[in-house]
Amino acid sequence: MSTELRTHMTVIDHGEGDEPQVNYSLNPTFASILQARLARRDVLKGSMGAAALGFMGVGLVGCNSGSSSDDDEAEPAPAPAALLGFTAIPTSEADEIIVPEGYSYHVLAPWGTPIAGAFPAFSVNNTGADQADQVGSHHDGMHFFPIEGTDPHEGSSTDGLLVINHEYVEPRYMHENSIGQNLGSGGVRIYDDLDAEGEVINRRRDTDEVLKEMNAHGISIFRIIKGNNNEWQIQPDNLNRRITALTPMAIQGPVRGTSFVRTLHSPTGTMTRGTLNNCAHGVTPWNTYMFSEENWAGYFRNGGKANPREHARYGVNSSATGTGRYAWELADSGADEYVRFDASIKAANATGDYRNEPNCFGWMVEVDPFNADAVPQKRTALGRFAHEGVVFAPAVEGSPVVCYSGDDSTYQHIYKFVTAQNYNRATTNGSILDTGTLYVAKFNADGSGEWLPLVYGENGLTNTNGFTSQADVLVNTRLAANTVGATPMDRPEWGAVDPNNGDVYFTLTNNSGLPEGDGGANPRAQNRHGQIVRWAEADGDQAATQFEWDLFLLAGDGGEAHKDKLTIDDKTDNLSGRDMNGNVLTEDAYMSSPDGLWIDKDSRVWIQTDVGEGSQNSGAFKIMGNNQMFAADPVSGEVRRFLTGPIGQEITGCITTPDQRTLFINVQHPGATTSGTEWAAGTNRSSWPDGNLNLYPPRSATVVIWKDDGGVIGS
Ligand code: FEO
Ligand code: CA
Ligand code: CA
Ligand code: CA
Repeated sequence: MSTELRTHMTVIDHGEGDEPQVNYSLNPTFASILQARLARRDVLKGSMGAAALGFMGVGLVGCNSGSSSDDDEAEPAPAPAALLGFTAIPTSEADEIIVPEGYSYHVLAPWGTPIAGAFPAFSVNNTGADQADQVGSHHDGMHFFPIEGTDPHEGSSTDGLLVINHEYVEPRYMHENSIGQNLGSGGVRIYDDLDAEGEVINRRRDTDEVLKEMNAHGISIFRIIKGNNNEWQIQPDNLNRRITALTPMAIQGPVRGTSFVRTLHSPTGTMTRGTLNNCAHGVTPWNTYMFSEENWAGYFRNGGKANPREHARYGVNSSATGTGRYAWELADSGADEYVRFDASIKAANATGDYRNEPNCFGWMVEVDPFNADAVPQKRTALGRFAHEGVVFAPAVEGSPVVCYSGDDSTYQHIYKFVTAQNYNRATTNGSILDTGTLYVAKFNADGSGEWLPLVYGENGLTNTNGFTSQADVLVNTRLAANTVGATPMDRPEWGAVDPNNGDVYFTLTNNSGLPEGDGGANPRAQNRHGQIVRWAEADGDQAATQFEWDLFLLAGDGGEAHKDKLTIDDKTDNLSGRDMNGNVLTEDAYMSSPDGLWIDKDSRVWIQTDVGEGSQNSGAFKIMGNNQMFAADPVSGEVRRFLTGPIGQEITGCITTPDQRTLFINVQHPGATTSGTEWAAGTNRSSWPDGNLNLYPPRSATVVIWKDDGGVIGS
């Protein structure tokens, strides 16, 4: 027998962490609905003038209108003075962070920073065990919890817990043996054992490499304190911990204990191990943190002999020879925690193998960051899909808790969960999320919208259509959404709720992979750049089943206004972005692929972009420069570029301290645009943040930003 080292690129194209298209439902698409609304604007324009009507021609009833008890809802609230007080910066292709004049920053907690245990110093030689005591990779959603531990938005602005999601990893940067190998950003090394004839008889990965990758996933929780000169430092603390792709977790809600989640590891279907692909996050009113499981399906394979709908509809690799995203199931120790990523049928029944392991992922998971022993809880009542994150509406004493979640994959949906029980500040905890109603959004062409309940036995979610229980509806949330007639969307990413009026905003990042421009169904020939939709719930009741929606922003370039900066092919107005007033986006505002989203206490809308690695800095995307961040005024619609990031990354994660004087954001996957041949030659397009590729690969990290005069960020 001989052994051959092969570098391996994932079989399914998960190189950028996004899922393949798997929804071919015929429900009207969001794009076709937008087209209908645009047509209506043209009708109305003749009598009233487009400017007075707003971009979509129909005013957003309820938006910016104050509370529901306000009798005078037609009166828009006056714009706060100088909501945006900084000077916009230009786009950038530089390998650095750029912030507006009068702002400064420093880098905190790059991947590999020690936070716990023996505090192992970062090195590319770190072991898998070392990684379990260090900050994970690919920083994403994040929250700053004031150290008092009572209210997630009030308390200390100089001392707290920073909690960060780690979405995925870039194996070529993680292992000494990957240096000099021709590996793209998702590539891993697989050893093929060959027989005398050269046929592959066994495939395996180095177990410690797999362990290190698994331990770089998950969540980091660590204490940070503000020192002199606005420099924040990580503090050793008993609350510092890592949650990884191996951490024991409980399954709660209607799916707990059902046949869908019974495995060899947990024959009772009550426990599972780890979390995967944690993208955006959520912050509950009771001061806990929620992490999403987004593109988890690609981590599994099932061999194709059985490909049940709870695999197929989510994109689990069903080819006979395919591997999971990083081929973890091939770890050469053969240990159970790795083998489980092979979800093929191997035993007589489900408690003898891991055919159900993929059903243990795709949930929102809750953890109390102030309890170092807390076992994370998978809250299944919120549905199973590619959860980008979850955003809670401000809790109202005596009313249900309401939260929203997007399914980031092409033509997937936006959901809302309304608890069965009412919020009580003194007693409510995470168990309130285990009973309630999951709804999915239907956006009508006339600007109205409906929340359609996903309840077993209603709206076609019956045995006739293959649904046997509420657990079945929740495990197969995407199918349930299709069945009730939900609107397929252009990849829903982050959501945000305006704390001052309850308006809900969602980024729809793009829908570039589909032949959209065939019948005029899309407002643009191809939705390469995405948009931001917002809505107001009926009567100001966040639990309402009706809403009114509008577009806050249509992302894109400056069209004719900036055609000198566009490539020849892109000098078409159908790529130009628009603000909420219908104005073409200025040089201060043009953007593509909005993703991260957060609204601060003053209602500034913070927008972060994620142009994919395959598109950045070229073609229609060249004018956008590197991925970046904006602030917007929700009343005037003005948008200004606030930050530009280094090469190959996306900007994601956004939170200030309660006093709004410190802003934390994340830089994810710098250098991901570096090709396999460039990496093999010892070069990288980015050396951020360390600036010395001989010592460090490019690393995801948090960036801490302050205003030099000590003022409110953005003001
Ligand atoms: Fe992880 Fe949809 O971005
Ligand atoms: Ca995202
Ligand atoms: Ca991304
Ligand atoms: Ca994205």
